[in-house]
Amino acid sequence: MSASERRLPFSSVLIFLYGSVAILTPPSSSASLDTFVFYGCTVQKYIPNSPYASNLNLLLGRLVAAATTASYGNFTVLGSAPQDTIYGLYQCQGDLNSGDCSQCVAGVVSRLGTVCSDACGGALQVEGCFVKYDNKSFFGVEDKTVVVKKCGASIGSDVDALTGLDAALAYLGSSSGTYRTGGSGDVRAVAQCVGDLSVSECQDCISDAIGRLKSACGPFAWGDLFLAKCYVRFTRGAAHAQDNGNGNEDSKGNDNETNKTLAIIIGLIAAVALLILFITYLNKKCEKGKGCK
Ligand SMILES: *[C@@H]1O[C@H](CO)[C@@H](O)[C@H](O)[C@H]1NC(C)=O
Ligand SMILES: *[C@@H]1O[C@H](CO)[C@@H](O)[C@H](O)[C@H]1NC(C)=O
Repeated sequence: MSASERRLPFSSVLIFLYGSVAILTPPSSSASLDTFVFYGCTVQKYIPNSPYASNLNLLLGRLVAAATTASYGNFTVLGSAPQDTIYGLYQCQGDLNSGDCSQCVAGVVSRLGTVCSDACGGALQVEGCFVKYDNKSFFGVEDKTVVVKKCGASIGSDVDALTGLDAALAYLGSSSGTYRTGGSGDVRAVAQCVGDLSVSECQDCISDAIGRLKSACGPFAWGDLFLAKCYVRFTRGAAHAQDNGNGNEDSKGNDNETNKTLAIIIGLIAAVALLILFITYLNKKCEKGKGCK
């Protein structure tokens, strides 16, 4: 057997191992950060290749660049005509590192170009980040319009679970900052304001979202409440993770980590098993043939 003939089965085993690990590993966290949540575009469109178009490109480029260093940023590109002045901002969820944040914002900006093609204003939220631009200033304007209200599967009337949710949400409400996390029992909750809100506006927005989320999704496996300038979400732990049905991708935090670790371990076990099989196969081949050297 020549050297080149022997290399072939080995590389195909490597590809196979990689394949088995990839299949058993659930979507990476960066994939779920890209999961679409909502978008909106103005009806009014700008003229392609106009000063408006180039100002918008400039603005979106600045947002993407800034996301490498901060989790929130706002920019204004002044037009030579007032209607060509464009305002834009991005907000990453507070737990994202700068690499994930910039990747998330870049992804959203490119999707905006498709979903809000030539629209004067647009906004798009994915799991990890939010981007909005318009030629009408919206900085510092508190907007409590309900954009997304979604609940998971019902968990019945488990009093302990309901108490856990109340405690977790109360903790979020009494915390401070634009990004808040809290947990109680098997409930994990997260809140995020867009960074242009003042401290009191952010508090008001989160309190409002908490109230709406509790009344809409109290006895459910998970709940998402997105207002235009803040959101509050919760998910219940492993005990309820299987009940989520098609909402599974919305659960986040500890469950995902546990699942991921488990999948990696299973992947590694599969890899080792395959390696042993391969070595056995090689040995058999070597015994039958005229030696492997
Ligand atoms: C936004 O841009 C559009 C298109 O150029 C223009 O018709 C509209 O008046 C502008 N809005 C503002 C608030 O400047
Ligand atoms: C916009 O960004 C500037 C500079 O980073 C900052 O000083 C200002 O507070 C921001 N304004 C709003 C409304 O977020």
